[in-house]
Amino acid sequence: MAPYIRRERRGSVAVVVVDNPPVNALSREVLEQLAAAVEEAAADGLITAVVLTGAGKSFIAGADISMFPRLAAGEMPPVPFQDYMNRIELCPKPVIAAIGGAALGGGLETAMACHYRIASAGAQLGQPEVKLGLIPGAGGTQRLPRLAGVEKAMEMCAFGETVGSQAAAELGLVDRVASGDVVEAAVEFARGAPPVRRTRDMREKLCDAESAESLAEVFRQMARRRMPHQKAPEAAIEAVLAAARGSFEEGLAAEARLFAACLNGEQSRALIHVFFAERAAAKIPGLRAPAQPDEVRRAAVVGAGTMGSGIAMCFADAGIDVWLSDASREGLERGLAGVRRQYEAAVRKGKLSGEEADRRLKRIRSADGMEGVAQADAVVEAVFEDPGVKREVFRMIGAAAPPAALLASNTSTLDIDMIAAATNRPEFVLGLHFFSPAPVMRLVEVVRGRATSDGAIAAAMALAKRLRKIPVAAGNCFGFIGNRMFLPYRTQAVSIAEQGGEPDRIDAALTSWGWAMGPLAVGDLIGHDVWLMIRREALRRGAGHIPVSAFEDELPRLGRLGQKNGFGWYRYDENRRGHPDEELIRLLREYAAARGIEQREWTAEQIRERTLLALVNEGARILDEGMALRAADIDVVFVHGFGFPAWRGGPMHWAEQAGKAKLLERLEALYDEEGPFWKPAAWWRR
Ligand code: 3HC
Repeated sequence: MAPYIRRERRGSVAVVVVDNPPVNALSREVLEQLAAAVEEAAADGLITAVVLTGAGKSFIAGADISMFPRLAAGEMPPVPFQDYMNRIELCPKPVIAAIGGAALGGGLETAMACHYRIASAGAQLGQPEVKLGLIPGAGGTQRLPRLAGVEKAMEMCAFGETVGSQAAAELGLVDRVASGDVVEAAVEFARGAPPVRRTRDMREKLCDAESAESLAEVFRQMARRRMPHQKAPEAAIEAVLAAARGSFEEGLAAEARLFAACLNGEQSRALIHVFFAERAAAKIPGLRAPAQPDEVRRAAVVGAGTMGSGIAMCFADAGIDVWLSDASREGLERGLAGVRRQYEAAVRKGKLSGEEADRRLKRIRSADGMEGVAQADAVVEAVFEDPGVKREVFRMIGAAAPPAALLASNTSTLDIDMIAAATNRPEFVLGLHFFSPAPVMRLVEVVRGRATSDGAIAAAMALAKRLRKIPVAAGNCFGFIGNRMFLPYRTQAVSIAEQGGEPDRIDAALTSWGWAMGPLAVGDLIGHDVWLMIRREALRRGAGHIPVSAFEDELPRLGRLGQKNGFGWYRYDENRRGHPDEELIRLLREYAAARGIEQREWTAEQIRERTLLALVNEGARILDEGMALRAADIDVVFVHGFGFPAWRGGPMHWAEQAGKAKLLERLEALYDEEGPFWKPAAWWRR
C-alpha cells in the first residue's frame, strides 16, 4: 500500500502529514494510515503531543469523492468514517490540527476530531457535502454544533458555505490564527502541554432540544427556498438537530443513518457526476499544445454593451488589465457607468471592500478604436450580433492585434469560420461564448472553428479557468451546444401552447421538475425580437430540422417583446413579475383556430416528456456529429448555463438514469406519429 502519511519529529512533538496530492483527499487507505499514525505516536513514550497537517496547499479537502459512487453501488465495503475520527479523538495525548489551506468536509471533520485547531490566515473551513447531495458523515454534524453552536452548524451543514480563519476563530471553531508558518505555530502550541480536550465532551454550546427544533424549522424553510427539491440540506439539519436531542453516540447513529440515505439516493449520484464533469470538461484529449500556454497579461474587449462590459469585469475580477472600447463614445461611457454601478452595488451588499472594487475598476481602461487591441494578448469581441458588423470588426482586430494574440468572438449564433475568414490569421480565432450576466455565470463555451489551432484552444481553456469559469469545448454548429439544444426544447413548449396548453402550466410542469425557469418565461426574459433573429439564423445555418415555432414569431409583431416592454407570454407588473394574460390566450387560440390546429388537454407528464425528449435528442445529435466531446460536457453546459437542476445531473445523465431504452421507445413512437423532428439520433442505441 502506498504511504499517504509522512511522520516527522520536532523534539517531543510528532508531526503527522497527510500527503495525498492534489488535495489530500481521504480514501479508506489514507484514513487507515492516518488513524494508525496518531495511535503510534500516542504509544511512543518520547512523544508528548501530535500535530496533524496536510502537505501542499490544502489541509484535507474531504473524503475522496470518487469512492462514493462505488460505495453506493456496493462495489466496495462501507468505510467507517466515524470510527476513524473517534480513533483520532480518543488519543490520550493532545492532538493539534495545523490547518494551512482547505479543511473541507471530512477535512474539517478530521480537524474537529483533533483537540485543538490552529489555522493560517488564508485557510477555508466548511462542510460542503450538501453540494454533492450528501451530509457530513464523519461526525461533523455532531462536533460542529459543539464547537460553533447549533445555529451556525445548521447553516454550514445545510448550505455548504465555507468560512475563513478569522470567522472560524470568532465562532470557536479555530483556537488560534497563525500569522507565520502554521505547523511551526502548532508545534509551539503543543510544547505548552495543553490538556486533552475532546469535542465530544463539550456541551456548553448546544442549546436545548426545543430551541434546536425551532432553529431547525427556520432552516428547513430557508432550505426549501434556497435549494428547492434537494434532500441533503434537510437531512443535514436533521442530523445537527440530533446533537441537541441526545448523547454524542445517539447523534452519530442519526448522522450515519441520514448519510447512508443520501449516499444511496439519486441526487448525490447526479451531483457527484456534475462535480467530476465540471473538472473533466476543461481537459481535451489529444490536444497538441504546450501544457502551460503563455499567460494573458493584458486583454481587450471590443463592444461595451451589457455582454462586453460584463466580460471586461470578468478580466478585472481575475486581476487582468483590460481595455474596453466601443463604436461610439456614448456606448463606451454607458458601459463604464454600468460597470461602476455594479461594483458599487457589490460594495453596498458587502460582497467587496471599497478598496477592492476600486482596484478592479482601475483595471478596466477605456480605449479609442483598436488602441487596446494593439496591446492585448487576448481580444474578446462582443459587438452587435450581425454577420456584416462582426466581419468588419474582425478585419480590424486582425490588422491591429499583436501576432500571437488570441482572437475570440462572443457570438452565440454566428459561424466562427465566417468570422475567422475576415482576419489574416484564422488559426488564432475561436468563439468564447459567455452567458449573461457574464460576471456571475460560470459557463463559457470554447468554440473551435475549422482553422483554429490546438494552441489557441489550449490557451482559451487556460484563460477561461483563470477567469474562474467552467470552459466547455464545443464545435462550430449553429448555437454550439447550449443554444442549439435549447431551441428544440423551447420549440416543443411553444408547440404545446399552440395545441391548447396553458403557458403558465407548461412552465410550471418544468419548474416543478427542477428547472430554474420555465421555457416560455425564458423567451420573455431574452426578448421575442431576439428569438426571432435566433430562429432566422438557425434556418440560415441549416438547423432546418428544428421547426420554427410560428406563434412565437408573431409576438414581436403583436407588440409583445417580453419582459422588456411588459408583455410576452405573460403580462409583467412593475416588479417584473409575470402574470397569466387573457389577451395572450385569446391571441393564441385565434392563431390556432385560423390554422386548424387541434386543441387538447396536456398533463404535466406529457409536457415534460415532449420538451425533455426534444432536448436530449438534440444533445444526442450533437454527440453523433462530434460537436461535443462527451455527454458529460453537455450536462455541464445545461447545469451552468441554462438552469437545469444540478441534482438531476444534466440532461444526458438524466436520460441515462431514467433509462435510455425506455425513452427511445417513446421517441420512436413520436417519430412514427409526427415525423422527422423526432428522428432518434444514433446515440440512443450506443
Ligand atoms: N476527492 C477527490 N478528488 C478531489 C477532491 C475530493 N474531495 N477535491 C478535489 N479533488 C480533485 C479534483 O477532482 C481535481 O482533480 P483533477 O485535477 O484530476 O481534475 C483536483 O482535485 C483539483 O481540484 P479543483 O480543480 O477543484 O482545484 P481547486 O484548486 O479549484 O479547488 C478545492 C480545490 C477547493 C479543494 C475543490 O477541489 C473542492 O471544493 N473540492 C471538493 C471539496 C468537498 O466537497 N469536500 C467534501 C467531500 S465529501 C466528504 O468529505 C464526506 C465526509 O463527510 C465523509
